[in-house]
Amino acid sequence: MCGIVGYTGVQGASPILLEGLKKLEYRGYDSAGIAVINDGVINIAKVTGRIANLCEKTNDGADYPGVTGIGHTRWATHGAPTDTNAHPHLSNDGRFAIVHNGIIENYLSLHDELTSKGYHFESETDTEVIVHLLEMYYKGDIKKAIIKTIARLQGSYALGVLCVDEPGKLYVAREASPLILGVGVGENFFASDVTALVSYTRNAIYLDDGEIAEITPDAINVFDCAMQTISKKITRIVWDIQSAEKGGYDHFMLKEIMEQPRAFKATIAPRIKDNEIVLDETDLSERYLKSINKIVITACGSAYYAGCAAKYTIEKLCRVPVICELASELRYSDPLIDNHTLLIVLSQSGETADTIAAMKECKSRGAKTIAIVNVVGSTIAKLADHALYTWAGPEIAVATTKGYTTQLAVLYLFALYMSKKLGRIEEERYLQLLSSLKSLPKKIQDTIDTNSKIHKIAIKYYDNRSMFFIGRNSDYAVALEGALKMKEISYIHAESYAAGELKHGTIALIEEHRPVVALCYNESVMEKTLSNIVEVKARGAEVLALTYKGNSQIVSQANDVIFVPKSETLFSAVLEIVPLQLLAYYVAKLNGCDIDKPKNLAKSVTVE
Ligand code: G6P
Repeated sequence: MCGIVGYTGVQGASPILLEGLKKLEYRGYDSAGIAVINDGVINIAKVTGRIANLCEKTNDGADYPGVTGIGHTRWATHGAPTDTNAHPHLSNDGRFAIVHNGIIENYLSLHDELTSKGYHFESETDTEVIVHLLEMYYKGDIKKAIIKTIARLQGSYALGVLCVDEPGKLYVAREASPLILGVGVGENFFASDVTALVSYTRNAIYLDDGEIAEITPDAINVFDCAMQTISKKITRIVWDIQSAEKGGYDHFMLKEIMEQPRAFKATIAPRIKDNEIVLDETDLSERYLKSINKIVITACGSAYYAGCAAKYTIEKLCRVPVICELASELRYSDPLIDNHTLLIVLSQSGETADTIAAMKECKSRGAKTIAIVNVVGSTIAKLADHALYTWAGPEIAVATTKGYTTQLAVLYLFALYMSKKLGRIEEERYLQLLSSLKSLPKKIQDTIDTNSKIHKIAIKYYDNRSMFFIGRNSDYAVALEGALKMKEISYIHAESYAAGELKHGTIALIEEHRPVVALCYNESVMEKTLSNIVEVKARGAEVLALTYKGNSQIVSQANDVIFVPKSETLFSAVLEIVPLQLLAYYVAKLNGCDIDKPKNLAKSVTVE
């Protein structure tokens, strides 16, 4: 989704803005632009397509001199991805230029009002109303103009403003869209994402909703709409530059798949002390846990599927009902939630608009909220009663991998923790499961080591336009994520189906050589899934089965088998998903797809 950057200092702003925008490419975008002040004039360059085009157009920034500027990557919402619709947008008098992330919901009425007052619109974007409002309200005091402007806006924004009257300054404002200030020496920055800042500074100020900042090379002044100064703390960014780079891999996705053993370990290890699970970040007392009558898990995309997989583990261990709801549905469902509901919100980015809205809705009905989030200081982490971080490090590829497995890591810890607090697990079994949990990083590594075999299988299956993923119970939950991985990066139609439901529809689509990926890890339903394999094979399907090492009964039934290490079924999702991530990766690569930036998708979906 859209990304913004800003720079003011003594160096040429354009190359720094272009570098920052490159770091934001992973979020997904379709056009980009920069605006730089030079000799009292704002110069703007905008292009459709990749940042490389913008570099070419600006001669790597050299043709756009100036020490203060703003930049933007746009993911089209209002108006097609064209040069004109790309940001920055300029006021009619050329005095202001702005970049904006978010959506202005009342832009139509503002557009009509501004048009009737004679302002001329260049683009079809919702954003452009902001720059004309600034011009309209400007009477020599930029701060006042900004305050009056944002008072008129409904919706979300992270806003960066340049004005020719104060050429060394940047102004920013935030409402429901991430905005981080980078604090340098003799230079300062802003960005929508820390990845754009880490090459320049590790010192950051996280702006909160309703805050505005005036940024010069030597000072940052944060204030509110009443012009009251707000004192902000400087936070150290712990992510390093290397972790936001490819480190020798062809794609971020492959690098992030490979990082899973480390990321999983980093997420669980600090929370296991002397065979006790310590969730210091929460205050989930035994009394509170006994008072809840259900757990609702909400999220979008893969995070939702992580919830679906963990539902089996939590219900089995805690005997508390778990309802998984897509955030984009839950928020509109008049949900049955009260103060006996524990809400678990999953989000890698912590900025997904629907997830935020669902969370607010449930909070307002009295639910206690735990957020399992990867990005420190993100909106969801801040909104939650308690944030449990997944220590996965920056995830750059649009298709999540380590984000998903580390969410499961926290959910497994939580399930064990809660079952112990509720007295629903024997000590011996608890210790057995804890030891199994600790063995998972090594088993994930062993699974990754079957890489070359999965590559060979991908060569056999990549040339297909449609695939099915089937499984039952916990295997079905993994099938959902496996199919999502395949479709989002390879553009092959991949449908996941509960194996028992095949006969009610999907089996009609099985024909000669149709690939069916059958997940057969869960022993409690093994025989049933095997029957489904036989059924699809009888109709000509090519079956790629996935099971644990030592389960030889599948070999005679399937065309190909992927074996992963044996583990507790309660935790098997993290092992089962790894070969499916690799399969999707290699299939996409063989099909020549843009793996890290799949078409039409975004990493952080900040629109509803
Ligand atoms: C996008 C990403 C997915 C992610 C989903 C939810 O669709 O491409 O990988 O699962 O958003 O994102 P979140 O940041 O809330 O986990």
